[in-house]
Amino acid sequence: MIGKKIEKALNEQINRELYSAYLYLGMSAQSHALGLRGAGNWFYVQYQEETGHALKLYKYLLEQGAGVELASIDKPKATFTTLLAMFEATLKHERFITQSINDLMGLAVSEKDYATQIMLQWFVTEQVEEEANDTEFVTTLKMAGSSAGTLLMLDKQLGKRVFKAG
Ligand code: FEO
Repeated sequence: MIGKKIEKALNEQINRELYSAYLYLGMSAQSHALGLRGAGNWFYVQYQEETGHALKLYKYLLEQGAGVELASIDKPKATFTTLLAMFEATLKHERFITQSINDLMGLAVSEKDYATQIMLQWFVTEQVEEEANDTEFVTTLKMAGSSAGTLLMLDKQLGKRVFKAG
């Protein structure tokens, strides 16, 4: 069993993960609108991953016999004029998610909730990977500047990403 504070915080994290999914689905559509099909694929896979993150938390709450309370999901920002702007927004958002995972872990530690700490460990590791990927793309896109060739090469690379259930 888990305490009420943890239950509430995990429900809030489900909402943040679903918002993340929604944000990246919007970016996927924006990428296609810019003619960047590879980036459209990359953000679509990210949407699938974020949905998976929300489901991990959902399943954990059920396993623990805790309550699930789904809240409304905010409308994501949907207008980006460049891929660099999308990845900069992605990095900023993921830093916010990292902070919320850290806050959750802090709460689990103070509540002496060891099971939740172990479950959250996966998210801690995942956030390191997500921030590293986004930072790399921001750096590459900044270096590319207005080079259409580099942008198309990166788009091709982004098009190869395949969803793997984690
Ligand atoms: Fe589920 Fe991108 O954090």
